Amino acid sequence: MLKERVEKALNEQLNAESFSSYLYLSMSSYFESLNMKGCATWMKVQAEEEYEHAKKFYDFILQRGGRVRLKGIEEPQTEWKSPEDAFAESLHHEKYITGRINDLMDIAIEEKDHATKIFLQWFVTEQVEEEDSVGSVLEQIRMVGDTKHGLYMLDRELGQRSAEAHESE
Ligand SMILES: [Fe+2]
Ligand SMILES: [Fe+2]
Repeated sequence: MLKERVEKALNEQLNAESFSSYLYLSMSSYFESLNMKGCATWMKVQAEEEYEHAKKFYDFILQRGGRVRLKGIEEPQTEWKSPEDAFAESLHHEKYITGRINDLMDIAIEEKDHATKIFLQWFVTEQVEEEDSVGSVLEQIRMVGDTKHGLYMLDRELGQRSAEAHESE
């Protein structure tokens, strides 16, 4: 059985992952508005992954005999200054989520909840990958600057990578 403190923290993370999904979907629609289809696809795949993360929390809370309590999802931003700005915010957001996962792990340790610790380990690893992949796109986008040709090539490449990720799921 989950301790109340752990259950509350897991529910809050379920909400944070749901917001992540919403944020990336909003970024996807921003890229659609720029006609950058590759980035839009990349962000949509991100949004789908975040929804999977939210569902992992949902399932785990239930599995442990807890109660899932869904809360309102914060309204995401809809406009960014540039593609670089959107990816910079993604990286900023992933770092924030990493911080939350670490705090959650601290709670599990304090409450001696070993099952939650093991469950969270996957997320600790996932956050390393997330920061790395978003960070590398941001670096590439900074390298091409606002050259139209560079952005066009990068957009194509990102759309391709997402399609491959889908196939390997
Ligand atoms: Fe996530
Ligand atoms: Fe993420």
